[in-house]
Amino acid sequence: NEIYFAGLSGVLPPYPVTFAELEERAESALAPGIWSYVAGGAGDEHTQRANVSAFTKHGLIPRMFVGAAQRDLTVELFGRRYPTPIFLAPIGVIGLCAQDGHGDLATARAAARTGVPMVASTLSVDPLEDVAAEFGDTPGFFQLYTPTDREVAESLVRRAEQAGYAGIVVTLDTWITGWRPRDLRTSNFPQLRGHCLQNYLGDPVFRSRLAKPPEEDLNAAILHWALSFGNPLTWDDLPWLRSLTSLPLLVKGIQHPDDVRRAIDGGVDGIYCSNHGGRQANGGLPALDCLPDVVEAADGTPVLFDSGVRSGTDVVKALALGATAVGVGRPYAYGLALGGVDGIVHVLRTLLAEADLTMAVDGYPTIADLTPEALRPTR
Ligand code: FNR
Repeated sequence: NEIYFAGLSGVLPPYPVTFAELEERAESALAPGIWSYVAGGAGDEHTQRANVSAFTKHGLIPRMFVGAAQRDLTVELFGRRYPTPIFLAPIGVIGLCAQDGHGDLATARAAARTGVPMVASTLSVDPLEDVAAEFGDTPGFFQLYTPTDREVAESLVRRAEQAGYAGIVVTLDTWITGWRPRDLRTSNFPQLRGHCLQNYLGDPVFRSRLAKPPEEDLNAAILHWALSFGNPLTWDDLPWLRSLTSLPLLVKGIQHPDDVRRAIDGGVDGIYCSNHGGRQANGGLPALDCLPDVVEAADGTPVLFDSGVRSGTDVVKALALGATAVGVGRPYAYGLALGGVDGIVHVLRTLLAEADLTMAVDGYPTIADLTPEALRPTR
C-alpha cells in the first residue's frame, strides 16, 4: 500500500521491486571482481541456477472464503518470537558491497530496523563485538568457520557469547573453497588480502600464535590464518563443538537426512539446510529439493533454510515445505550495494510484503496454515 499510495502522487519506489532489476542494478554498481565474487558460484553454476528454478516446481494452491484479512508472519525459534520468518544469511566479506566498507555494521543496522535477525559471518570486516553492538532489540547469531586451532575456535565462541549473540551456527560445507571459475579467473580472494580477518587479527588467542603482531607483519598473520582456516571436521568433532557453548548450536550445510539425525543425536539444537547458494559443490541437488527429507528427519527440531530465495513467494513455499525460518543471501548484498542500510531494509521489506500479500490472496493467514498441502507440483 505504501508504494501504491506514493505512486498516486507520482513518487515511484527508489529501489527495484523485482529481483531481476535488483540484480541488474547491483551488477552495474559493483566493480567487476566484486560482482563476480558475490554473484558467482561453483563450476558452471548449474546448482546455483537450479536453487532458484527449484521453486517453480511447486505451485501454491489458493483457498477461498478464508477471510485472511490479518496475517501473522511471526515465528518462534529457540524460545523467542521473531516478527518475521526470514533471516539474513551469513555473507563473508560483505564489506566489499558497502561504500564505506562496513557492510557487517550496515547489515546489523538493517536487522535492528526490521527485526530480521542477522547471522554474522566469521569472515567480517567489522569485529563481532562491534556488529553485535548494532543489533538493537533484534537477536543475532554468530556463524563460525572452525579453524584447526581449537583454542582459537573456543575464543571466537566465547567472545560471541560475551557479545550477546543468541546462537552459534557452525558452517560445515566450506572448510575449503569450492571450484569457483569466476574467482579463479580474477584471482579475487579478498580473504587472502586480510580484508575480512578482523575477528582473527583482534583475537587474543590468534595473536598469541604469531611471532609478530599483525600490525607489524600482516602478511605473516594472513599466512597463519590461511594455513589454519580449513578444518575438515568429522563426527568425532561434534561432541567438542557441542561442548563449546550452552547457546543454541546449529549446523549449516546439511542436506542428507542421515546427517540430520546424527547431528541431532549429537546434541545440536537446529539444522540449517543449505548448499551455500551453489558456491561450494556444483552438480548437487537444489537445496529446496532436500528440504522435505531434512524436515522429516529433523522431526520437530527447527530447520533453517537458504539457497535460491529470491521472492516473497519463495519464502512462502519454503515455509510450506517445513522450514522454520528462511534465509536470504545475495539479494540483501545487492540491496547493500545499491543503497547501504536503506537498501537492505528495502530488500527485506519487499520480500516480506510479497510474502504477506501471497498469504493474503492465497488464503493462508498464518505460518501454521502453510503445510505441504498448500503446494502442488507444477506440470
Ligand atoms: C556466502 N555464504 C556464506 N555462508 C557462511 O556460512 N559463511 C560465510 O562467510 C558465507 N559467505 C558468503 C559470501 C557470499 C558472497 C555469498 C553469496 C554467500 C553463503 C550464505 O550464507 C547462504 O548460504 C547463501 O548465500 C544462500 O544462497 P542465496 O540466497 O545467495 O542464493
